[in-house]
Amino acid sequence: MSKITAIKLMKKLFFFSVLLLPLNNNLKAQQHQMSKSYVVPDDSLVQQKLNKWQDLKFGLFMHWGTYSEWGVVESWSICPEDEGWTQRKGPYGTDYFSYKKAYENLQTTFNPTKFNPEKWVKAAKEAGMKYVIFTTKHHDGFCMFDTKQTDYKITSTKTPFSVNPRSNIASEIFNAFRKENFMIGAYFSKPDWHSEYYWWPYFPPKDRNVNYDPAKYPERWQKFKDYSYNQIQELMTGYGSVDILWLDGGWVRPKNTIDTAVEWQRTITYDQNIDMPRIAAMARTKQPGLIVVDRTVAGQYENYTTPEQQVPDAPLDHPWESCITMGNSWSYVPGDSYKSANQIISLLVNIVSRGGNLLMNIGPGPDGDWDPIAYERLKQIGNWIKINGEGIYNSVAVAPYSEGNIYYTKSKNTNTLYAFILSGKDKVELPQNVLFHLKGVTKVKKISLLGINKKLKWIAADGSIKIIIPAYLQTNKGLAKAAVFKIQY
Ligand code: GLC
Repeated sequence: MSKITAIKLMKKLFFFSVLLLPLNNNLKAQQHQMSKSYVVPDDSLVQQKLNKWQDLKFGLFMHWGTYSEWGVVESWSICPEDEGWTQRKGPYGTDYFSYKKAYENLQTTFNPTKFNPEKWVKAAKEAGMKYVIFTTKHHDGFCMFDTKQTDYKITSTKTPFSVNPRSNIASEIFNAFRKENFMIGAYFSKPDWHSEYYWWPYFPPKDRNVNYDPAKYPERWQKFKDYSYNQIQELMTGYGSVDILWLDGGWVRPKNTIDTAVEWQRTITYDQNIDMPRIAAMARTKQPGLIVVDRTVAGQYENYTTPEQQVPDAPLDHPWESCITMGNSWSYVPGDSYKSANQIISLLVNIVSRGGNLLMNIGPGPDGDWDPIAYERLKQIGNWIKINGEGIYNSVAVAPYSEGNIYYTKSKNTNTLYAFILSGKDKVELPQNVLFHLKGVTKVKKISLLGINKKLKWIAADGSIKIIIPAYLQTNKGLAKAAVFKIQY
């Protein structure tokens, strides 16, 4: 048996043993959402990296570009689609072409002098985040790295910030986070609304798609493929070790491919085949084991799926990550309303109980810093995670995943279960007893509450565990936001 076949077999056995665990409640186990189109990567280095990444659970996403100067939704206001959230505003809003010109002119005023990635690393690390994904280029095509392919970039002499010693922003961010052992992810938009090879100035842009038929103008499309390939090559060579290539803009895809967000065949105007095999092969030569996330494009280049602003209600049968904004927008909007620390912790617990990762987005402002509220939220999350993180990291999903406001995880390596009681409040008040339905857990050895160093009493019956809460814990002052029971068996 080859090494790869052996690994595949072991993975299968592991998967089935997890499904057959006596702990699993059969009914819920059937709710495992099966993806018709997920392809297990056959590169064992990719599998190893994916396993490592799945243990990290909590990452930081950042959408940042010149759009932050206007505080508008990232890129989308230059897309000629008539949707509320893409609406143009401001002095140039009434006329598309002068608007696009003014938007692209933001390059000449972008000067985020407060940029200090170490400050972000410190805050993210204290909050328990373990990886970062940064927008090296969004759909508008502005590059937050020192590309050689265009002058529409942060390091162009047109951009005031280019004189700053830290002007190669993507590089500075990656280096700062890598120093603190974060996994590093490069967000890269496949569509590029600045490139003449995607939106050919000969025609006006019609919608988010390429504005000419690539089949009719293959040479132009080839230039676009090369442009994208070259930029990704730059990111994969000059920016140190990169773990994840997160490709957005799923409409740039070969025609008649399955969209994994909806599990049906997406109809697109033109075949927009960007040649992923060529890109991925090059990228993995430079970065062995690189996780490639060709979002929503079914097949071997979507190594994990990325439900957006949502949490699947049952575990998925493959690696996944929910990307969710801390405010309402992906990019910086002055006075945006941020989720509370309680809400973020609840999201994290909910996602982890379904076996996923939470990628939480914060949009830096035009001055180069975050809204102070973001720091405050991360601090509160950190206070909670310092005590309760052992139930989060290196965990796997376990049926019944949740019951009411109780959420479960299981340690990957030891016979330990965690039950999170989400209170929705800052101070947790516990009832006289708490009941868990965990089939098969009869030989409980010890139950305790994280952060409280005392053994608790329990009564175990067929499939259920009733924990007796002593009076002093019912109105406890030390338990904040979500209390976590540790059940060793
Ligand atoms: C949505 C937005 C896009 C953003 C992405 C992040 O698709 O339209 O601008 O980058 O979410 O997941």
